[in-house]
Amino acid sequence: MTLKKNTNCGLLTKVNVGEKVVVAGWVQGRRDHGGLIFLDLRDRTGIVQVVFDQEKNKSFFNQVEKIRPEYVVAVGGKVVPRSPETVNLKLKTGEIEISADALEILNPSLTPPFYIENNIDTDENLRLRYRYLDLRRPEMLELLHFRHRILLEARKYLDGEGFWEIETPMLTRSTPEGARDYLVPSRISPGSFFALPQSPQLFKQLLMVAGVEKYFQIARCFRDEDLRADRQPEFTQIDMEMSFSSREDIMSVVEGLVKHLFQQVQGKDLKIPFEVLPYREAMERFGSDRPDTRFAMELVDISEIAAASQFRVFKTAVQDGGIVKGINAKNCGRYSRKEIDDLTALVQSWGAQGLGWMIVTGEGFKTPIAKFFSPSQLDTIREKFDAREGDLLLFIAGKREKALDVLGQLRVHLARREGLIPQNEDKFLWIVDFPLLAYDAEEKRYDSVHHPFTAPLEEELPLLAVDPLKVRSQAYDLVYNGVEVAGGSIRIHRKEVQEQIFKLLGLPDEEIEEKFGFLMRAFEYGAPPHGGLAFGLDRLIMLMAGRKSIRDVIAFPKTAAGNCLLTGAPGPVSAGQLAELHISPVLRNNKKDV
Ligand code: AMO
Repeated sequence: MTLKKNTNCGLLTKVNVGEKVVVAGWVQGRRDHGGLIFLDLRDRTGIVQVVFDQEKNKSFFNQVEKIRPEYVVAVGGKVVPRSPETVNLKLKTGEIEISADALEILNPSLTPPFYIENNIDTDENLRLRYRYLDLRRPEMLELLHFRHRILLEARKYLDGEGFWEIETPMLTRSTPEGARDYLVPSRISPGSFFALPQSPQLFKQLLMVAGVEKYFQIARCFRDEDLRADRQPEFTQIDMEMSFSSREDIMSVVEGLVKHLFQQVQGKDLKIPFEVLPYREAMERFGSDRPDTRFAMELVDISEIAAASQFRVFKTAVQDGGIVKGINAKNCGRYSRKEIDDLTALVQSWGAQGLGWMIVTGEGFKTPIAKFFSPSQLDTIREKFDAREGDLLLFIAGKREKALDVLGQLRVHLARREGLIPQNEDKFLWIVDFPLLAYDAEEKRYDSVHHPFTAPLEEELPLLAVDPLKVRSQAYDLVYNGVEVAGGSIRIHRKEVQEQIFKLLGLPDEEIEEKFGFLMRAFEYGAPPHGGLAFGLDRLIMLMAGRKSIRDVIAFPKTAAGNCLLTGAPGPVSAGQLAELHISPVLRNNKKDV
């Protein structure tokens, strides 16, 4: 390379007129006007127009004619003003151009399989296969830069608050976060495996025992679970832990962090502290432990009326210990019978028995079930739902948890469909007082709602022995526009309590010793009270950037099927490598099962 880049394409403006510059980048496009050739040259800062003049550039003009899109070139020349009729105010550099006097073609390019520009409508798999080209698109480079700035500001803020960034091992033991582990076979210890960390949970707790007091890490986590738009098998957390802190202390550091990020990176002023909602209330009002509260459509309980009505489905649901609740889909009374039938099929696919409905008209309720309710019962329903003419009331009867969950999903479905969700709002919300344990009826044992290291509410500790499902935890989740972006808790720091929890989870003594002996021992050497939290960094960035998929904010993501289309990973390994790892594969016939 003889021409040395000394400025950026997208930053040149009128101010630079008269300067001699060398720019380098990729050719966005080329227009041939006979004796004049125009190149749009792009680098990560933007696009600048370069003009080659056959007369002036005689010695290399034939080279210019060879240039195609995505060639990498360096151009020397002078910044000159554009003539008034060619000024393009849509472009930051649209008032100037570079009058070229030198050219170096640094590398040619094949024709890319898709346009290198924003808003392309290209199959995502193709984009992932050619990710380096996809990332060249300005909106993608901008997202990478956005992510960089978030990470930088997070580090600055946490450093300012006295947190130390400490790395923890990738080759480790299983950390139970509820997913399957990715395992790494050991060559040196035949038959033994490392697990890639599902999170740095146990190490950060050990760092508290070590006296670090305030820890953070931009941590990679690995979880083998079913993937969705907001889940990747390999993702990043901003992971934190603090000693001698209450739940409120930790929540307030986290609020400060989020406020700082919004302020520094987006110039937005977020209001803190965030609203705090107990889990039970979130479930009853929104049917979700990560409610989107940018819109209302809250759940309304009509169990009492249902029990007193003549409608058998509702009545028996309540008699059997369940509930009847509903939502008011405002102005959806216009839905056709077919549309309501489709909604019914939808809630059935979520596990509901059926969907009760009432359309509010000028003449009363239009519904097949009105006849089962007395006029005064109907009046109460109208009042409870604040129902107006044109509204559609939708009801689910059944077991409490199921009914709430289905209504929660229906609420979001209808809000999306009706365009009720304000797109420019940033709504943060804490959910607290989760139950500590859930009961797994299939496995006939308790499961942690968060992870097994979450502390129970101090005052409910005695309940652990008598009614474990009643015990609430000191966990807190942070919800942003209906997405869980962070979760954490005050931890158990006393050995007896941790042991009691492991036992409730059905772990035999040998297994406790085998898997968590190191933690239990650490608790015997003066473990301070501590707690922490982890952000799903990819989710946070996705939402801040207004994207729908975390794949957009990860440089090299996996597909929904868990593959990397760019490198072809995961791929086969040689028999020799397997032998070295003391593994002899038993391949089943069906390749999918391998
Ligand atoms: P948790 O399992 O809730 O907590 O994870 C913290 C946050 O990480 C994000 N997250 C994910 N993001 C992308 N892809 C995934 N597969 C994925 N799984 C989780 C979520 C979630 O809120 N050790 C605890 C934290 C603690 O207690 O301090 C933990 O990992 O946004």
